[in-house]
Amino acid sequence: MNAGILGMGHFVPERILTNKELEEMVDTSDEWIRTRTGIEERRIAPDDMNTSDMAYEAAKNAMEEAEVKADEIDLILVATVTSDMGFPSVATQIQARLGAFKAAAMDVSAACAGFMYGMVTGKQFIEAGTYKNVLIVGVEKLSKIMNWEDRNTCVLFGDGAGAAVMGPVSEDRGVLSFELGADGRGIPHLHQTEEDVIYMNGREVFKFAVRQMGESALNVVEKIGLTKNDVDYLIPHQANIRIMEAAREKLDIPVEKMSKNIQKYGNTSAASIPIALSEDVKSGNIKDGDLVVLVGFGGGLTWGAVAFRW
Ligand code: ACO
Repeated sequence: MNAGILGMGHFVPERILTNKELEEMVDTSDEWIRTRTGIEERRIAPDDMNTSDMAYEAAKNAMEEAEVKADEIDLILVATVTSDMGFPSVATQIQARLGAFKAAAMDVSAACAGFMYGMVTGKQFIEAGTYKNVLIVGVEKLSKIMNWEDRNTCVLFGDGAGAAVMGPVSEDRGVLSFELGADGRGIPHLHQTEEDVIYMNGREVFKFAVRQMGESALNVVEKIGLTKNDVDYLIPHQANIRIMEAAREKLDIPVEKMSKNIQKYGNTSAASIPIALSEDVKSGNIKDGDLVVLVGFGGGLTWGAVAFRW
């Protein structure tokens, strides 16, 4: 038995913040943001919508798609670095709202690699036979930890949520291999400051990401005895189109086989990969039997990749 995805869901706030609007806020230009990052607009949650509200909507959507009821969920894992408060976790907040009272619940902190950390944790419980259905959510309200006067960061990020219900599938489906990693020596390059906003040394993170994304994507394919030619679809963390392109080139994948929604949502950290996966499943970009590679990196530094057959 393998652990696979039974259903995907996502949620993004309605409010769109365009590059043009950012031109009024900091010394930047639509042209600079588009050419350096690929971002055209991002979604921003209103004041009365917190991280747990977005997580709840995405989770509900994934459970409908998976046809799994609240009392059938055994574990809830929420990947986020922007929880509503220090404690309780977002996972327990949505447990109550969903009515999933049989589920254990906790948050996972691995920044933009958080969804992969969540998936891999869920997989262990499912394959051990200790839990059947695991709800994994990647969610961020990054707008609340943004320095809106820092052009190096405020043009990059957005808010949103993506969710998966994982459960047992046949041996030839589901998660086939994974790689998780961390290097705490990277903390100076990307972290939350004492003022509670994001600090980032873009150039350092860029160099790391270009190398790590390609390597990890290839590693998970080779671990199962396949080659890059066997990959049907690539979902890279939507951080910067140039970083995503580097991963795509490493796998030799044509443009139409790489997921891309960065132009609409910017970098939504832990939510980026599950939002993309949810959109790709719903639009039919991912087809029955496809070998899909997810790969991401983030603050920590952390990274993760997963190869699965849909
Ligand atoms: N508008 C205009 N100019 C800008 C802006 C902006 N929004 N931001 C930076 N610049 C300037 C810089 O100040 C710099 O000016 P200088 O040369 O006078 O010092 C110039 O543009 C070029 O800066 P670079 O850093 O060389 O630009 P680069 O091409 O590397 O692009 C970017 C910057 C987009 C940030 C890139 O480095 C990048 O994508 N890095 C990775 C970011 C990332 O993916 N982070 C993940 C974080 S996820 C998480 O864990 C929360």
